[in-house]
Amino acid sequence: MSLVSFWQAPSNIAIVKYWGKYGIQLPCNSSISLSLEAACTQTKVEVLPLSGKGTEVHFYLDGERKESFETKIWTLLHLLGDDCRFWKEHSLRISSSNTFPHSAGIASSASGMAALALCLLDLEFKFREQERPLNFFQIASSWARLGSGSACRSLFGGFVSWGKAEGLNSSLEEGAPLPFQVHSVFKGMKDAILLVDQAEKKVSSTIGHGLMVDHWFSERRFLQAEAHTQRLLSILKEGDAEGFVELTEAEALSLHAMMMTSASNYLLMRPNTIAVIEEIRAFRKQTGLPVCFTLDAGPNIHLLYPATIENRVKTLIDNLTQDFCLGKNLIDSMGTGPVELNSKE
Ligand code: PMV
Repeated sequence: MSLVSFWQAPSNIAIVKYWGKYGIQLPCNSSISLSLEAACTQTKVEVLPLSGKGTEVHFYLDGERKESFETKIWTLLHLLGDDCRFWKEHSLRISSSNTFPHSAGIASSASGMAALALCLLDLEFKFREQERPLNFFQIASSWARLGSGSACRSLFGGFVSWGKAEGLNSSLEEGAPLPFQVHSVFKGMKDAILLVDQAEKKVSSTIGHGLMVDHWFSERRFLQAEAHTQRLLSILKEGDAEGFVELTEAEALSLHAMMMTSASNYLLMRPNTIAVIEEIRAFRKQTGLPVCFTLDAGPNIHLLYPATIENRVKTLIDNLTQDFCLGKNLIDSMGTGPVELNSKE
């Protein structure tokens, strides 16, 4: 029996944002994201004999032990309860690395928790001497969600939903790919991540989700997100590139508006975030090209555009990168989802 599991999972960028949760990591609204191709986490879990102290979990990021991550892993293991038992008789050595730089404006918790969930689930089946079931990725999605909500969408490629709504295959507990072929306009969609600021997050997403509980506008926000989810499904089916631009930017600004209007209000956009947004809008007006921005819970811009106009957007990206973004960007695109890696590597 193999005592090692090694998986790669992608990060994702939400188009309709998840912001606000209840119970055990259940979302207050449906969300839809795009899984990335290049921005991934690779995680190897090695199962070792029990130490004299019982189960020990050692986590290494790029070869360096990170005890702060171990607390998060313990929380996940406990939340999994009896669904994941093998670790109770063993110790774990978990080695992880990201294919993108730290604080690059990419959610490493999503790709990290997705890759870890895949390893744990794979090992659990190995220890139970059971074949992987057909719904292996769905189960892994529900496990990843317990570690970080948005991670449950990183178990699949392309456009992925999370939440329960008409026209979605996902549920509150797990993500799922959209149940139809998206229009060719959106195939291979590009995401250029423009690094406005590389400082650590000022406010964690756990605190941000918490501030939605007594927020003046949360009820309306959740309704807006459900309406946007339904509208995005039509946009993606019909190939409505202009509709995509309008909805994507409205979602990004709504997410930040929630932060700015919460009880302990805070602002994650930086002056250059606004400058880049205005440049993108001016470029769009001038050229008529369907380029748009979205934001995660941070100041960096994700510039989204169809792969077919890549050459025409290159100058815009180069200029924005030079003028407002510390000379740094990362150009990614729609990805195909997790892959199992060779555990002998
Ligand atoms: O998965 P969490 O708890 O880190 O929440 C992340 C939420 C956003 O990234 C801001 C939006 C989303 O849907 O991914």
